[in-house]
Amino acid sequence: MNNWQHGFYKLTADERRQRLAQVRQLSPVEKEVLANTSSDLGDELVENYITDYSLPEGVALNITVNDQQYTVPMVIEEPSVIAAASNGAQRVSKSGGFIAPKQARRLVGQVVLDEIDDVMAAKTWLLAHQDIILKIANEAHPSMQARGGGAETMTVRTPGNFISVDLGINVCQAMGANSVNTMSEAVGKWLTAQGFHVITAILSNLATQSLQTATCKIDFRYLSTTQIDGKTVAKRIARLSDLAQADPYRAATHNKGIMNGIDAVMIASGNDWRAIESGVHAYAARDGQYRGLSTWQVEGNYLVGKITLPLPVGVVGGSIGLNKMTKINYRISQIKSAEELAAVTASVGLAQNLAALRALTTTGIQDGHMKLQYRSLAVSVGATPAEVPVVVATLKQHSHVDQALAKQVLATIRKDRSND
Ligand code: HMG
Repeated sequence: MNNWQHGFYKLTADERRQRLAQVRQLSPVEKEVLANTSSDLGDELVENYITDYSLPEGVALNITVNDQQYTVPMVIEEPSVIAAASNGAQRVSKSGGFIAPKQARRLVGQVVLDEIDDVMAAKTWLLAHQDIILKIANEAHPSMQARGGGAETMTVRTPGNFISVDLGINVCQAMGANSVNTMSEAVGKWLTAQGFHVITAILSNLATQSLQTATCKIDFRYLSTTQIDGKTVAKRIARLSDLAQADPYRAATHNKGIMNGIDAVMIASGNDWRAIESGVHAYAARDGQYRGLSTWQVEGNYLVGKITLPLPVGVVGGSIGLNKMTKINYRISQIKSAEELAAVTASVGLAQNLAALRALTTTGIQDGHMKLQYRSLAVSVGATPAEVPVVVATLKQHSHVDQALAKQVLATIRKDRSND
């Protein structure tokens, strides 16, 4: 069994589960859970497949974007995120909703050259051959051009002592990573044949040609709490947004709040959220300092919010057509195009951010967030579905709640019940 990993990938999923169960001494119940949550599709999608790992899905409500109401599926394990997105979006909806113009989008295919003797001369040569380079890219994937897309632009950058030939590729409604890689590699081969040393030919996830902006304007009266008037809340939110522009420590948390919403929409819509994450954070640091992706400022009687971020999303391709949940999610959201998905996603990110900043500048995050955590806390200490509401109700009466208290509360409930 020392070499149990060798050839693991050649086994059937069932054989893999059995081998792991033996090596890790899994219990019969654990083995059954692995088997019962497995699927044929999963085995087709990833390597060394053993089972499906599921995450909760909910819907964010009240998302009004460009005068249209959306119900947006979100997949996430963290309590309070979906509540917060709906909460922020509701405040924006009451003030007219988000404006998120449908924006042109291209992916960037990067062909990088190394060992250049004369960078300026090479750059001039490349620019002079732009038409043929774009033609070669398009010939590698003719169906993209037939659909109205394809390689449309070429720019040449000189980072360090490299040359990067950046192809701007319109992938229409698709996620498009594979197509871009195919086209970039074709250009890479051609440049190699011309005598260049090509070090890599691959999509860049810094999708600056797929930027999406969403804005909103919230009347002060929709920001107030029972204790604090709306104007004061708006001013505090604006200052907190200034802090995220000045301080990378705060910016990382500010952006984490935004990505709570964006990642959840990306997973539910079948998009590659790792690609979105890496692009977003690179974009947040584009001027050399990591900053908040959104800004908030007070204008007259309104709090005005704006977010711009790279969202190279797709509504076809990748695993989108394979996962039956993803297909249902598009039926729920009624989103039909990549442009629409980008507009809604950016708006959800801004709604998420608004709710978090409003909570931070009024009650503090723990008040709303922790109360919604109580249910998962109850489950984590072993409460059954029937016991969860009773545990939650008791936890809400305490000012300091942690796992030890939840355990103690559950034990008391069970003891009381056994005494009845
Ligand atoms: P509340 O003020 O108690 O809500 O908010 P409400 O009872 O006044 O209800 C208003 C609306 O909020 C509701 O409308 C719902 O849309 C929504 P209605 O249905 O009444 O017409 N709502 C809910 N939706 C679903 N389930 C619920 C629910 N409750 C309200 N249970 C809330 C409570 C938790 C929403 C609020 O306190 C909040 O938004 N807090 C922020 C929570 C948050 O941001 N969580 C993310 C995790 S923390 C984090 O990771 C990021 C962070 O660090 C980022 C940063 O620092 O910037 C915070």
